[in-house]
Amino acid sequence: MSVAIIYASHYGHTREICERLAEGLRLRDVNSDILDAGDLPSGFSLRGYEAAIVAGSVHYGRHPRSLTRFVRAHRDDLDTLPSAWLSVSLAAADERGASEARELASRFPERIGWQPTLTMPVAGALSYRRYGPLRRLMMRQIARMSGAATDTTRDHVYTDWDQIDALAARVGETLHGGVQWRGAERDPRPE
Ligand SMILES: Cc1cc2nc3c(=O)[nH]c(=O)nc-3n(C[C@H](O)[C@H](O)[C@H](O)COP(=O)(O)O)c2cc1C
Repeated sequence: MSVAIIYASHYGHTREICERLAEGLRLRDVNSDILDAGDLPSGFSLRGYEAAIVAGSVHYGRHPRSLTRFVRAHRDDLDTLPSAWLSVSLAAADERGASEARELASRFPERIGWQPTLTMPVAGALSYRRYGPLRRLMMRQIARMSGAATDTTRDHVYTDWDQIDALAARVGETLHGGVQWRGAERDPRPE
C-alpha cells in the first residue's frame, strides 16, 4: 500500500508538512514516497500508487509552476486515484484570511481542470531564519500589517498539525478499506 506525496516548496515548510503526513501514514502501515515536483525521477509515474497527495505553497498569490506542470502531465493517472490537494499559505493562518485561503486553494485545480477528492487550505509558516535579509525585512512588514509575528530571530509555524494528522488518519483508514474518501469534500479537521 503506497501513497505518492508530491510537493513544491520555496523555503521547506511544505516539505515538512509532507514529512509529517508520511509519518502519520507510516503509523498506519501505509508507505509513502515524498517527491519534489521540480525534481522527479525520469519516467516517474503515479501508476502503482493507491492515492496521491499534492502540496504546494503560495508565493505572491500563486502556487509553484512545477506543480502545475506535474498535475498537467499526470492528470489521467490522478483522475483514477483518490487525491488530496494542500494549498499552504499564510492567509490560512487566521480567520480573516480564511476565505482568501479557500479561494487560493480552489483556484489552482480549477485552472488546470483537475478535481482532487479533497482540497485543503493549510496554514504555513514565517520562516524568517531561512530568508535572506531583504526578504526578511519585507516579510516582517507584511506580517506587521496582517498581525502575524514580527520577531525575525526565529521561525513562526502556524500549521495546525492536528489537521495534518487527521488527513493522514483519513487516508490510512481509506486505504485499509474502512472509510470512504472519494466524494467526501469536507476538510478532515477533527471536530
Ligand atoms: C516571498 C513570499 C511571498 C508569499 N506570498 C504569499 C501570498 O501571496 N499569500 C499568502 O497567503 N502567503 C504568502 N506567503 C506565505 C507562504 O505561503 C508561507 O510562508 C508558506 O509556509 C511557505 O511555504 P514553503 O516554505 O514551503 O515555500 C509568502 C511567503 C513568501 C516568503
